[in-house]
Amino acid sequence: MHTEINHPCIQHKLSIIRDQTTGHKRFRELATEITMFVCYEALKNVQTEAVEIQTPVAKATCHQIASDLVVVPILRAGMGMLDGILRLVPTARVGFMGLYRDEETKQPVEYYNKLPEVTDNQIHIVIDPMLATGGSTVATLDVLKKHGAKRIVVVCLVTCPEGLAKVDSSHPDVPVYTASVDDHLDERKYIVPGLGDAGDRLYGTR
Ligand code: PRP
Ligand code: URA
Repeated sequence: MHTEINHPCIQHKLSIIRDQTTGHKRFRELATEITMFVCYEALKNVQTEAVEIQTPVAKATCHQIASDLVVVPILRAGMGMLDGILRLVPTARVGFMGLYRDEETKQPVEYYNKLPEVTDNQIHIVIDPMLATGGSTVATLDVLKKHGAKRIVVVCLVTCPEGLAKVDSSHPDVPVYTASVDDHLDERKYIVPGLGDAGDRLYGTR
């Protein structure tokens, strides 16, 4: 199950982040901005609890987030979305998943993970700009479920039908939120039209 957040403000920002002439400083800013829009939607069903607040005028019953949120960036490109989601939910915990996609086989290779203890009422939010073949996301979901995670949401900037189908068939209970479902994967398993190599564009490594 997936949701594409199809809003003019996101489409405008996507047109700039996709542009190959956009440098790494602007790319990072746009990744943060688009993440905030997509996460705003992805977090709409988190649990809240009523709290009594005294305003300068009167008592008010307000609502605060009650879920224990754990954001899990897939290293390295997932770090490019961390600022954006933490601006929305600054008290979230952060777990890390170290994976890279082998350039030859296109299979994910795990090199690190560090996750907070599982608690009741927890929601894990996996962030990675690119959900391409879906291999890295599925490997992360496998690790999270083995760790005990019950409720998981995936947020990406750009994906494609092939990657969504893989996540759906392996983890049908996990919803994916994205700014764009692009057309297809090319022969190098890059998303078309996509953003190119998100890690390299974020960090100026190529
Ligand atoms: C990219 C991207 C995803 C993965 C997507 O990471 O950030 O993690 O590829 O591809 P997939 O859906 O086919 O698995 P990459 O392996 O380039 O590592 P990096 O973030 O360290 O640059
Ligand atoms: N990884 C990226 O960074 N971009 C793609 O299009 C596919 C995998």
